[in-house]
Amino acid sequence: MEHAAVVADRGTAAAVPFFTQAASFTALWPSIKDNLEAVLDRGKYSHGPLVGRFEEALAEYLGAGHVVGVNSGTDALVLLLRAAGLQPGDEVVVPAFSFVASASSVVLAGGTPTFADIDPVTYGIDTGTAAVTVATRMVMPVHLFCQLADLGSVVAFAQRHALTVVEDSAEAIGMRWDGTHAGLHGAGGVLSFFPTKTLGALGDAGAVITDDARIAETAAALRHHGRFGHTLDNFPGIATETTLPGLNSKMDDVQAAVLLAKLATLDADIARRAHLAALYSEGLRGCPGVRRLPTVVEREVDTTAVFYVYLVEVDHRDALAAYLAANSVGTETYYPVPLHLQPCFAHLGYRRGQFPHAEAACANAVALPLYPDLTEAQVDRVCSLVRAFYGGGGA
Ligand SMILES: Cc1ncc(COP(=O)(O)O)c(C=O)c1O
Repeated sequence: MEHAAVVADRGTAAAVPFFTQAASFTALWPSIKDNLEAVLDRGKYSHGPLVGRFEEALAEYLGAGHVVGVNSGTDALVLLLRAAGLQPGDEVVVPAFSFVASASSVVLAGGTPTFADIDPVTYGIDTGTAAVTVATRMVMPVHLFCQLADLGSVVAFAQRHALTVVEDSAEAIGMRWDGTHAGLHGAGGVLSFFPTKTLGALGDAGAVITDDARIAETAAALRHHGRFGHTLDNFPGIATETTLPGLNSKMDDVQAAVLLAKLATLDADIARRAHLAALYSEGLRGCPGVRRLPTVVEREVDTTAVFYVYLVEVDHRDALAAYLAANSVGTETYYPVPLHLQPCFAHLGYRRGQFPHAEAACANAVALPLYPDLTEAQVDRVCSLVRAFYGGGGA
């Protein structure tokens, strides 16, 4: 390798964790504490009043007809697919580059994922590479890292083949396409509130979001066993019975208490993320070894980008990650294995080489720390270390 020797400079600077929210949590503590006290006062810890308040506040923020709070983004996908009418054996087109839940949710909902490649710049689905069969019923665009998949082409593809659009918008809070929030361009979408997300809880939580009242009602029933034989007077907001067996996927009020407080600073957090991402791009532009910086593409309509993850594609990705770790800088690999090559989907018979853009992203992409607590000096330090690693000047 032609890059600099991997020598750590331990002790010269403070660690840059991949994620922390210690400072912003401290700043928000008074409002979080008030909300937590309300939970304790009411004594409802699961699908109680704070969950209802959070659902309403979030629906207003998104401009969504309905928000159904559940206990993870993964469950939200399963519930959305089932509420949108997925039947056993139905196929859903999913991009080969995503978090595993995009495809495993299809299996858990009784369907079969079929994979398509991605656009190498936006990491969104390239529907031109999808195989549509008589069993194909739905298409699932996934909006990754900082921008939406090409919803114009996804919606046109869905119309051409009479497919339902279900969006994996787990990472996409704040992202809009022609003024409409991610997740609201077809049957519905989801949000994940995993702690590292742009709006993160203190544990797992998620939501189904939709403008379709029937889908919302079904998802709301399915999140609590479909109301099978239950008396649910003490669970306000749990809607009509369904004939489908459901899950226990209610949202905890403790998470709603945190999320409700954090919703108040979401726009400021998004602006801070954009500022830090711009500093990374300045600091890394032209750096040898860095093949691709995030590029927000112009669309035919107005779109809003939100930096959830700052993802770069680099030479010698694993060696760079090891060098940064040795210098107390955390990174994450999004995503190490393309979905069509995941062992849990081996029975579907896909082969290496079928989706070259997804496979290249898995081989070369690495995420650098990005969160509102990160300081400008920390971004500077990470950029200097990356430059030093590739012999382009720095640390
Ligand atoms: C694209 C995508 N889909 C689905 C999920 C699943 O969300 P959760 O981790 O809340 O189950 C995530 C989050 O990790 C994600 O990033």
